[in-house]
Amino acid sequence: MQIIEPIADMRAWSEGERRQGRRIVFVPTMGSLHEGHLSLVRDAKSRGERVVVSIFVNPMQFGPSEDFAKYPRDLQRDRSMLESLGVDVLFHPTVGEIYPDGYQTHIEVENLSLPLCGAVRPGHFRGVATVVAKLFNIVQPHIAIFGEKDFQQLQIVRRLVRDLSMNIEIVGHPIVREADGLAMSSRNAYLTAEERRAAVCLSRALCKAEKLVRRGESSAAALLHLVTAEIAQESLAQIEYVKLCDVDSLQDVERVEGAAVLALAVRFGRARLIDNRVIKH
Ligand code: PAJ
Repeated sequence: MQIIEPIADMRAWSEGERRQGRRIVFVPTMGSLHEGHLSLVRDAKSRGERVVVSIFVNPMQFGPSEDFAKYPRDLQRDRSMLESLGVDVLFHPTVGEIYPDGYQTHIEVENLSLPLCGAVRPGHFRGVATVVAKLFNIVQPHIAIFGEKDFQQLQIVRRLVRDLSMNIEIVGHPIVREADGLAMSSRNAYLTAEERRAAVCLSRALCKAEKLVRRGESSAAALLHLVTAEIAQESLAQIEYVKLCDVDSLQDVERVEGAAVLALAVRFGRARLIDNRVIKH
């Protein structure tokens, strides 16, 4: 596995592969890799001839009071995991090269960035869209894979690629969970043992809501009530939002008609966890 830091070297590698007619599959990450990320990488390996994984903790997508400085970083561990999966390139650019002095260009996917996490993390999706567009320009992949765990991010990236006429296929990968249902996340490392036990209420609540829909319920009010009540039983949980939204526009819906996404963000101590489930009626 090659480890590439300079943007020019990454670009040269991709151009060389493209000239030889090879397809490049790309998985962008912020490192601190877990089984969720690795599942995306395995998916990438099964789809193309060359796999690039980036590790870049992107300062632009963290708010001033968020965990940029404390975000978990372990490059040696990440590197050996990626190596064992047969990744071709680990792209690990520096903040200084991604955002040189005088940097002033941003990408805003306007409406999709407003609800859900966008409402509580102003500027977050602007930072995500900007760095993803830059990474796409540098890595020049044919396919890029994103997790459905960050459902809003996935929809924003799909819109960005369409709106800017980028010739990249965006693939969504299902949420990878721990044995008890908790969605895997680098931020789970912030949970105390007690919070970790409590956090399973998120996936449990989403499962119960899905069962209710299977039994014929379709009203948003009933589903949101069920999910909120289930989570509220855990005294350590502080709900940020629980919403039922249209899968494409991410606007609130009153009923599940066709498909809708039940999405939530909940704090446990210093960990902010998100989860979601696409529900079909
Ligand atoms: P990060 O949180 O490291 O996640 C990298 C990719 O892994 C994202 O596409 C995310 O949705 C996916 N992922 C994380 N946990 C997952 C799980 N449990 N199941 C399935 N997929 C999972 O998301 C980011 O980084 C950044 O915002 C990034 C896109 C790299 C831009 O900086």
